[in-house]
Amino acid sequence: MNTQKEKDYWTERYVNQNTGWDIGYPSTPLKNYIDQLTDKSIKILVPGAGNAYEAQYLWEQSFKNVVVIDISEVPLKNFKKRNPNFPENQLLHGNFFEHKESYDLIIEQTFFCSFIPSDKNRTAYAKHMASLLKPTGKLVGLWFDFPITYNLEKRPFGGNKALYLSYLNPYFKTVTFESCYNSIPPRQGKELFGIFTKK
Ligand SMILES: C[S@@+](CC[C@H](N)C(=O)[O-])C[C@H]1O[C@@H](n2cnc3c(N)ncnc32)[C@H](O)[C@@H]1O
Repeated sequence: MNTQKEKDYWTERYVNQNTGWDIGYPSTPLKNYIDQLTDKSIKILVPGAGNAYEAQYLWEQSFKNVVVIDISEVPLKNFKKRNPNFPENQLLHGNFFEHKESYDLIIEQTFFCSFIPSDKNRTAYAKHMASLLKPTGKLVGLWFDFPITYNLEKRPFGGNKALYLSYLNPYFKTVTFESCYNSIPPRQGKELFGIFTKK
């Protein structure tokens, strides 16, 4: 993955406001998942967070150990404007694949589907996600459930349960990975909700 190329690609999409994925609020499945968490001290990563409405929601619910990373600075600046008290050192401008830390929870939404769906990239995602989790850590999120196309102009790239598991299984145990019952209306029937623990 060419970091500069990816950075330019995403920045251009933000600058041109070509951001069809951006729903403008925390998605219902992730909000509901967050609402049942009780330990507010856990360390949480939101990778490829974009405008990071879920991170904002976590912050507003008093989860103070939340880290946001994005390869483009544009959404990070938007986030900072909306959340001026969010600590600078928890707002990371960088490439997820180069990030090194240990988290209790990683929250995924339209990140996996955002990069070129090569075997190499998808394997690297699963491996790196696992490396960023503590031994008891969890990867929780939403993965699109529609056919993958290899038209590189047509992000997000889809997939299906079996395909995703082929990448995740070597590194994760599946707690749940099912059709999402509480998706936001435009995504109903088109996404899977998953909870995975590190193997
Ligand atoms: C489709 S958007 C999703 C944004 C956000 N998760 C949401 O649901 O609105 C993908 C995001 O991932 C970021 N991104 C892509 N590749 C990245 C990488 N290697 N490291 C960090 N961020 C990356 C992009 O800049 C973009 O903000």
